[in-house]
Amino acid sequence: MARIDDATLRKINATSDIVEVVSDYVRLKKRGSGYIGLCPFHNERTPSFSVSKSRNFCKCFSCGKGGSPVGFIMEVEQVDYPGALRILARKYGITIEERELTDEERHEASERESMLAVNDFAMRWFERNIQQTQEGRDIGLAYFRQRGIDERMIERFHLGYSLDRRDALRTEALRAGYTDEFLEKTGLIIRHEGGGISDRFRARVIYPIFTLSGKVVGFGGRTLRSDKTMAKYVNSPESTIYHKSTELYGLYQAKPSIVRKDKCILVEGYMDVISMHQAGIENVVASSGTSLTEGQIRLIHRFTENVTVIYDSDPAGIKASLRGIDLLLAEGLMVKVLLLPDGDDPDSFAQSHSSSEVERYIEENEGDFVKFKTDILMKDTDRDPIARSRAMTEIVRTIAVIPEMMLRTTYIAECSRRFGMSEELLTLQVRREMTARAERQATDDRARQARRNWEQQQASAADEAAAAAASQPQADRGAAVAQPANRLAPYEREILRYVLRYGPLYLADMTDDHGQTYPMNVIEVVASLLEQDMLQFSYPPYADTYAAARSLMARAWPDYIARQRQRLEETRDEQLKAGRDEIRRTAMDMAEIERREQELQHSVASLVDEGLEEASRTFISRELGVDPDDTVRKVTLSLVSERHKLSKIHSKFSRVETERDKLIELVPMAIYNLKEAIIEQRLASLREELRRCGSDPEACNRILSDMGQLNESKKSLAAYLGERTITPRRH
Ligand code: CTP
Ligand code: MN
Repeated sequence: MARIDDATLRKINATSDIVEVVSDYVRLKKRGSGYIGLCPFHNERTPSFSVSKSRNFCKCFSCGKGGSPVGFIMEVEQVDYPGALRILARKYGITIEERELTDEERHEASERESMLAVNDFAMRWFERNIQQTQEGRDIGLAYFRQRGIDERMIERFHLGYSLDRRDALRTEALRAGYTDEFLEKTGLIIRHEGGGISDRFRARVIYPIFTLSGKVVGFGGRTLRSDKTMAKYVNSPESTIYHKSTELYGLYQAKPSIVRKDKCILVEGYMDVISMHQAGIENVVASSGTSLTEGQIRLIHRFTENVTVIYDSDPAGIKASLRGIDLLLAEGLMVKVLLLPDGDDPDSFAQSHSSSEVERYIEENEGDFVKFKTDILMKDTDRDPIARSRAMTEIVRTIAVIPEMMLRTTYIAECSRRFGMSEELLTLQVRREMTARAERQATDDRARQARRNWEQQQASAADEAAAAAASQPQADRGAAVAQPANRLAPYEREILRYVLRYGPLYLADMTDDHGQTYPMNVIEVVASLLEQDMLQFSYPPYADTYAAARSLMARAWPDYIARQRQRLEETRDEQLKAGRDEIRRTAMDMAEIERREQELQHSVASLVDEGLEEASRTFISRELGVDPDDTVRKVTLSLVSERHKLSKIHSKFSRVETERDKLIELVPMAIYNLKEAIIEQRLASLREELRRCGSDPEACNRILSDMGQLNESKKSLAAYLGERTITPRRH
């Protein structure tokens, strides 16, 4: 990788046009004096990404991301400054003098760049094999010929061949100066248990997988043997540069055509894409292997709203397309479906028909999903009323996933026409399905909440004891009331202090039974632990203040933190921009630019995180410290101003560790202490009863058994601290 000289740098900056650059990633529509499109940086259905040609600048109203052409490329491609310049240079045909890397430079090139470089090398090597080696021509090239693929497509999709040797690619790559590290990270080689190393792709035709900007992130390799024990496809593994769920095969080649036709055709496999291309239908992409994902759909949505799904007409293909349709609709796309004649897939169909026949077949046979589902579900069961009603239920269910009301109405009308059922009735059913869906969602959320449970095993005993103890102040009357509250108050105070001082700060990821993890802040953890045992603060001033803190969080926190984040990110971007301008004005050469650029990145990197932490830490105390309620205000001020006495306990472990660093232990500990205190209190009153029960053996036995249970609870309570399921996040 070469360094970029100053003149070239200026040329790239002067040539890059923001509208052209962004258009490679986003379908832009003219709006007022500028352009607008769907933001590539976050998921959205209505466009808020705006591009100003005159200012040569873009920005998302909604998430705030954007920038100059270089800045945009850095963000969208996740590359550094020089990396972005290189991409732009390639786009505008500006040559950057390449020279061999020095050892130091090679070491410095980021992991990502190194992986892309070795992939690029491998691709070119596979291509060379298929054209220039005997084996490649006889086997690889012959195979594509036999499948009707011509030279133009082989070139366009950079198809290749991997030799039938153990480590031909590795040997070649090492000789050219690439290392095992990145060959392994990209998955081009496999390190075996016994220590041996071999190429992943051997004796296969190779389909490179490109990103939107034309970088090779992975490969698919198809075997040419009919040996059934051999995997038909071997694919690159997931890696830092290759995320299967957000890449689409063929998108790089299809993009211009998708934009031009304002439509994308979705097929299953590599060959389907290539054969369709060859037949002149170029707006075709494949999800290849994985079932369609939200990320892939979003990728399509940036360029068009219209998708036609063509899957094989075999049962597996149909099942895949049904799943895909609901996902596409839910993301707000206009979906059409095309069923090919029995036994055909897009590849065979495109190979056996002329371009215009394919074109016409698609035009005449693509239909909306209502038609498709009706056709599929009522195939051969025309007169069967049960099948008919099942089909209708299915269609109603699908209509209910569509986010836009207008579109739902259109499909309801279509469905009504097809089934001869009134629109009113269908509308009602769709609405019912939507409500049911929302409720299912809410139930799921609640269930998830319920699963956030640290102590399931020992729950019952401890819970009963604690709940009984906690409800005692209300149950008893007279002088007894004040006393338990007072005895528990110090424990409650400790918990409340964490809530007031650190409430909104992230504490831990909670893992539920499904392995799903949720980030929880201090106040959420406290709430969930207390609720689990149905505990409440018994000392009224603490109970009130705790309630005020929770309601404040629910009411004002999300907005507040979103505003803070935006403000901080804007500040960061301004600093970054100012810094970059300064560097560009004053730097003497590319080396200096790169170095200072790195320093700048480093200096602004922590700005947002630190700012957010600060904002989080002060939020509750600032708000409740001026609360109109006297009790809430006083409790807050007294608790947050208190120097934390616990710090000296921990000071012997480490001088630098603060209370905040220890929260992951301190918060559960505080709750544990309260629970233990409650149990102790209950035990004490049982002991008192025992003394008084005198000669009644039945009463004595009952009390003794209660005490036994409470002692058990105490033990299991102690045990839970050792096996809690929360894990601190790595910093
Ligand atoms: N696929 C895969 N691994 C497999 C089988 C399939 O990754 N073991 C992916 C490939 O991307 C393939 C797509 O699923 O292109 C569709 O599979 P299939 O229809 O079996 O393959 P085709 O691409 O149609 O291959 P061919 O026509 O060459 O048999
Ligand atoms: Mn096929």
